[in-house]
Amino acid sequence: MKDSVASHYTNGRLLDRILSGVEAIGKTPESVTVDDLAPVDEFHIGGRQASEEFIDQLELSANNHVLDVGCGLGGTSRFVASRFGCRVTGIDLTPEFISTGQSLCDWVGLTEQVKLTQGDATATAFSDESFDAAFMLHVGMNIANKIGLFSEICRLIKPGAVFGVYDVMLTGDEELTYPVPWSTTPDTSALATQEQYIDALGQAGFAIIKIRDRRDFAAEFFAETRRRMEEAGGSPPLGVHIAMGDSAPVKINNMVENIASGRVSPVEIIVSKAAH
Ligand SMILES: C[S@@+](CC[C@H](N)C(=O)[O-])C[C@H]1O[C@@H](n2cnc3c(N)ncnc32)[C@H](O)[C@@H]1O
Repeated sequence: MKDSVASHYTNGRLLDRILSGVEAIGKTPESVTVDDLAPVDEFHIGGRQASEEFIDQLELSANNHVLDVGCGLGGTSRFVASRFGCRVTGIDLTPEFISTGQSLCDWVGLTEQVKLTQGDATATAFSDESFDAAFMLHVGMNIANKIGLFSEICRLIKPGAVFGVYDVMLTGDEELTYPVPWSTTPDTSALATQEQYIDALGQAGFAIIKIRDRRDFAAEFFAETRRRMEEAGGSPPLGVHIAMGDSAPVKINNMVENIASGRVSPVEIIVSKAAH
């Protein structure tokens, strides 16, 4: 499954396409900012706005070293590093996301503060208790062994540290319409219900702090995105469609339909590791 997941996300010319988008907004790798890149490098429902509203609940500070699990292009890592002044390490399975993401860090001057590494989040080479906090956006949908994943994250963060999950979770019994942004077919999709997440997090050693269903936020976000695209007469130069490839419009339409019909919903779960 790991190889199929990485090949699902591999584009082949991601950096070139992002560079063209950057030039189309009148910027260069030297002048582009973390905020300019947000429409293309935050690959989850609600983009930067969702990250901001989610991350602010984790109470991060400048002296933290934070782990971004399944960081993709590292958009959320760069946002967190620039907002809080902290160090961020991201890990992701897809080599092209890591190499492209590291170039984007170089462009915006965050090479030292943000390190992106290729690897499987369920079995990393990081030492025990290396991180002060961790977060994961839209990754669990590709990982069937959620107890294994959450146990590994629990091992990597310090006692008392907070971990935030923002994933698409199952809310109904009906089959999803594919392709969706994280999977072309059901074979590489590993959706679970909110209850299954809570159970896996508990078994891994976490206690629940807060749960928030983001269905209404998602509906508003999609309606607003559609309105802006109609106004502009197409996709913007920089957008998540770049990372999704040629089938982006159908994946986005299916996602909107799957949420609207009650099959899935984006949900935040914030947990903490026992203090001792
Ligand atoms: C929808 S993208 C989200 C990326 C990023 N978190 C964001 O919000 O922009 C899902 C990411 O999960 C990564 N992923 C899936 N399975 C993984 C695993 N076992 N270990 C590390 N990363 C994984 C994929 O490579 C992909 O980059």
